[in-house]
Amino acid sequence: MNDIFRSEVIIIEFVPFIGIFRDTKYKIGVNILRTIHYAVLNEMSCSQTIPQTILDVGCGNGAFTQAVSAKFPLSTITAIDTSISQLVSSANITFMKGSVEQLPLVSESFDLVIAVLSLHHWKEKNKGINEIYRVLKKGGRLIIGDPLLEDWMSHYILGVLMQVLDGGSFTDKKRVSEYLNMAGFEDISIRLIPNTMKSLYLITAKKAI
Ligand SMILES: C[S@@+](CC[C@H](N)C(=O)[O-])C[C@H]1O[C@@H](n2cnc3c(N)ncnc32)[C@H](O)[C@@H]1O
Repeated sequence: MNDIFRSEVIIIEFVPFIGIFRDTKYKIGVNILRTIHYAVLNEMSCSQTIPQTILDVGCGNGAFTQAVSAKFPLSTITAIDTSISQLVSSANITFMKGSVEQLPLVSESFDLVIAVLSLHHWKEKNKGINEIYRVLKKGGRLIIGDPLLEDWMSHYILGVLMQVLDGGSFTDKKRVSEYLNMAGFEDISIRLIPNTMKSLYLITAKKAI
């Protein structure tokens, strides 16, 4: 884990559906959150070109957005959430209130869109993915980090409980893949994030050039 990530991300947000689980490797929910954040940051760094414009959808308390900003100080970052309050924009981050289903953003304006632990909250997931496709530039990338239901079946009862507690509704690999395909995305990849419980996925896709 690099130093920037270690020093910048301090997650104090309680996410019931993750927080109540323990993992064989990571002992507390916060560490699982760190794992998904680190996986997304790592995936962001895989591209050979630095994204000039990044959109963080469902940024929450903005802690992860700050880590992204530290990692990509030259990028212009927009962070959007339905329930943003008192988040102060900084040199390269603009926080905005808004919904993924109706992004108040210009078409084809982002090189990279990320959505971490937010997808399961979206009421209309297909609409959200269509909107992300719209605001991505041609050749732009999408990275989503979220639990998917498929591997939750062994935890079915707890999964239902957590949906009630967290207010979200989990989807599964097949549906996410369909939404991405229908929106027009290419190079779709849905894979488990290693070293954590069998439910956290990294979903990546690209808008055609
Ligand atoms: C669990 S938090 C994740 C925060 C941050 N991305 C992180 O990883 O720490 C999920 C966030 O998604 C936001 N959210 C839920 N539905 C949304 C929507 N339709 N559009 C944008 N944001 C949404 C919630 O308000 C919440 O802040």
